[in-house]
Amino acid sequence: MTQTGTEIFADRMLSLGLARVSEAAAIASARLIGRGDERAADRAAVDAMRLQLNLLDIRGIVVIGEGERDEAPMLFIGESVGRGIGPEVDIALDPLEGTTLTAKDMPNALSVIAMGPRGSILHAPDVYMDKLSIGPGFPPGLLSLDMTPAERVRALAKAKKCPPEAVSVCILERERHREMIAEVRSTGAAIRLITDGDVAGVIHTAEASRTGIDMYMGQGGAPEGVLAAAALRCMGGQIQGRLVFRNDDERARAARLGITDLDRIYMLDDMIAGDVIFSATGVTDGSVLSGARRDGDYLETETLLMRSKTGSVRRLHYRQKNL
Ligand code: FBP
Repeated sequence: MTQTGTEIFADRMLSLGLARVSEAAAIASARLIGRGDERAADRAAVDAMRLQLNLLDIRGIVVIGEGERDEAPMLFIGESVGRGIGPEVDIALDPLEGTTLTAKDMPNALSVIAMGPRGSILHAPDVYMDKLSIGPGFPPGLLSLDMTPAERVRALAKAKKCPPEAVSVCILERERHREMIAEVRSTGAAIRLITDGDVAGVIHTAEASRTGIDMYMGQGGAPEGVLAAAALRCMGGQIQGRLVFRNDDERARAARLGITDLDRIYMLDDMIAGDVIFSATGVTDGSVLSGARRDGDYLETETLLMRSKTGSVRRLHYRQKNL
């Protein structure tokens, strides 16, 4: 086991606690599905996640959170969480990944959290990250962010021993991706465009035979990139990311976190440098998880709970009397 400070990171024991944390956040935001109020849905998820997190026997620090201290009242970067006893851990979280998806009742909104020993999770600034991911079973270094989108598709097709037409790529539908989308299309590959939620986008690649998605590429949030890396650390697969800076304020955010090489490509191990536990609970129904739902007097959720140490992947169905 990984030893940090004086206490062992007992990932096996902590994992069920972590599932409770994402379940609570998903249940809280589920009341606001389809209500058109992104802020209220996010707030409900944050409050519930924080409450549950503070019941765990950990000395946790939020390293990927709701924002910097001056912009997020709760679960901000640097906030101490947990009961203050037990192992020292880093926490990456997004209580509601897909606020717009939730407000509009669209697929794949998730509540997400990852935990690893102190120092194991990249402190990424809240800027964009250029991301590229594929599932397990391919040689390391097969793809690179330095390749053009068309080169990536052709290299993956070659490795899969299939024509580019049989490759399917997931991309966030954004104006900034217009050229990337056109170039991928020019290879003949299929594209699943998503309106939000690139943590789920990346997770699709780890279960390509089930989801039909072989590769994820494009710019999304850097915090979401680190959370996605935590998921792939457990499920297998490759991800790399390069931070994207649009102005001096964003470069200053990186400087405050000690990042000096602004062009660095972060590989999975750079983002998640040790054992990690990952838990995601569905908020809205999606291709990764069923959404949180009310069934008569009961609340139900589905959670993906994973540990990198063993590669265990559990899908937990939870049912609770709606008190
Ligand atoms: P929120 O849950 O904060 O709304 O983020 C959703 C999301 O789609 C992420 O999955 C993605 O990384 C990011 O927003 C993309 O940012 P933008 O909407 O600015 O393109």
